[in-house]
Amino acid sequence: MLVTTKEMFEKSMKEGFAIGAFNVNNMEIIQAIVDAAAEAKSPVILQASSSAIKYARINYLMKMIEAATQEYENIPIAIHLDHGPDFETCKMCIDNGFTSVMIDGSKYDFEKNIELTKQVVDYAHSKGVVVEAELGKLAGIEDDVNVSASDAMYTDPNQAEEFVKRTGCDSLAIAIGTSHGAYKFKGEAKLRFDILQEIKQRIPNTPIVLHGASTVIPELVKMCNEYGGNIPGAKGVPDEMLNQASKSGVSKINVDTDLRLAMTAAIRKAFVEDPSVFDPRKYLTPARELIKETVKHKMIDVFGSSNKI
Ligand code: G3H
Ligand code: 13P
Ligand code: ZN
Repeated sequence: MLVTTKEMFEKSMKEGFAIGAFNVNNMEIIQAIVDAAAEAKSPVILQASSSAIKYARINYLMKMIEAATQEYENIPIAIHLDHGPDFETCKMCIDNGFTSVMIDGSKYDFEKNIELTKQVVDYAHSKGVVVEAELGKLAGIEDDVNVSASDAMYTDPNQAEEFVKRTGCDSLAIAIGTSHGAYKFKGEAKLRFDILQEIKQRIPNTPIVLHGASTVIPELVKMCNEYGGNIPGAKGVPDEMLNQASKSGVSKINVDTDLRLAMTAAIRKAFVEDPSVFDPRKYLTPARELIKETVKHKMIDVFGSSNKI
């Protein structure tokens, strides 16, 4: 069933688990995620970035998601815009049936972020749609910055409280050391759970979102490399940390990179094992299967969202 994130977040905060938000770009990825959610009996968030919408086209995306929600009537499924860059994109998604949008004003200063977020919140709420906002900046591997500069990128708990009050946003993405992509840490993985805790104390009723939270599953990286890939030094957030985050007030955990790795690994393997293959179904079937297993593992073993429908 198609839902907003309101009820699943309330349950997550009450019971101490997180809901996976998985990026979708095509039919196989959508099917893999909802099949996993159905098998794990887990609520799930399907999210599309503006580049995913450009790639798949919004009508195709919405029709496929409609098919998924009809197929699994008893599974709560939300459709969310990931990293909405501006008001217009958020409005377009809301008008096309998204149940949740993110307005990412983190590139702007505090006041401009508030102003833009509030504009989206006012429109979204008038249509029954919920809004995720972002405060703080996610680190990048190239951000080889000194301690005080990297401190400045983390979400400031004081600001978080003011931001939520003034914007009325429904959930808040925070920066505590995660980053997008396959290269998150040069040395040890480290997340600022102390900052998460402080933020949680200031805004106990606001669901917290973690971006850049792929594990960069070592087995998938190894599989890509074994079958002709070249992804050296990839490193993500270990499952134990994501499990800890799920139990410490994080309600939504974003995953894209692990799905990309699963799809690529399975396709590479199929090509190497049978160089004569040219029927796309022959390599997209194992790709869909590996994405499903990856998503199920996260729901059951890491986020704790299994049997929470
Ligand atoms: O955080 C961004 C997501 O991984 C989506 O990436 O813009 O390449 O679709 P994308
Ligand atoms: P990863 O790159 O860690 O999968 O993060 C995805 C994300 O945050 C999407 O918004
Ligand atoms: Zn993100």
